[in-house]
Amino acid sequence: MRLYRAKDYKDMSRKAANIISAQVIMKPNCVLGLATGSTPIGTYQQLIEWYRKGDLDFSEVHTANLDEYRGLTKDNDQSYYYFMYHNFFKDINIDMANTNIPDGMNPDSAAEAARYDQVIRDLGGVDLQLLGLGHNGHIGFNEPEEAFEKGTHCVDLQPSTIEANKRFFASIDDVPKQAYTMGIKTIMQAKKILLIASGEDKAQILHEALCGPVTPHVPASILQMHNDVTVVADEAALSKFDKFDL
Ligand code: F6R
Repeated sequence: MRLYRAKDYKDMSRKAANIISAQVIMKPNCVLGLATGSTPIGTYQQLIEWYRKGDLDFSEVHTANLDEYRGLTKDNDQSYYYFMYHNFFKDINIDMANTNIPDGMNPDSAAEAARYDQVIRDLGGVDLQLLGLGHNGHIGFNEPEEAFEKGTHCVDLQPSTIEANKRFFASIDDVPKQAYTMGIKTIMQAKKILLIASGEDKAQILHEALCGPVTPHVPASILQMHNDVTVVADEAALSKFDKFDL
């Protein structure tokens, strides 16, 4: 596991964007696994800036997002499809036909899970998976105590996740209670993983995930078992680390 220490959110975003850029430059037809949430927004903005300067070309890139709320249509402004389109895809030259996100409107959860796993297999797997970290240690929407061996599946979101995400909705009752997510198995099959974290509120869980025991209680702790993980975190998120950690 490699750890890059960033000064602040902006520095974290630039360092993470550099790693994604390197992937796109080295393999123009790569498969990027992407995340939503607050943490990657700056990374996407930096990639857009470099694309506009002419330094990046996404025309052959394919993407597979981690997750999607169940029951939200693509044009719902809280859906992850909407997030990806408005925060990244609309501003780069990616072919929308090459982008993949679980279909939150498929009522048949087993069929949707099988379809999405097949999409990822057909792409030849994910080359670089970008991950944020939930306050409860979740990656994707794999909540604590989820089995490590799952592929894409439908999850019941935990009260703490619903609480954390309510800031984006008119009221807590509007936050979907379920989501489709790549499973831990899917995530662990990515060839490379890039975990990003920013802010004091992630410090405790980041330390537990990277330095504590590997346990389904802290889903991100499984990343300790992957052989190509890069972590980019800012000083605030690293405030529980001492110089002997990692
Ligand atoms: C998003 C995702 C989640 C987030 C996590 C952190 O696609 O899968 O695991 O990465 O909830 O969210 P933020 O970045 O908003 O703190």
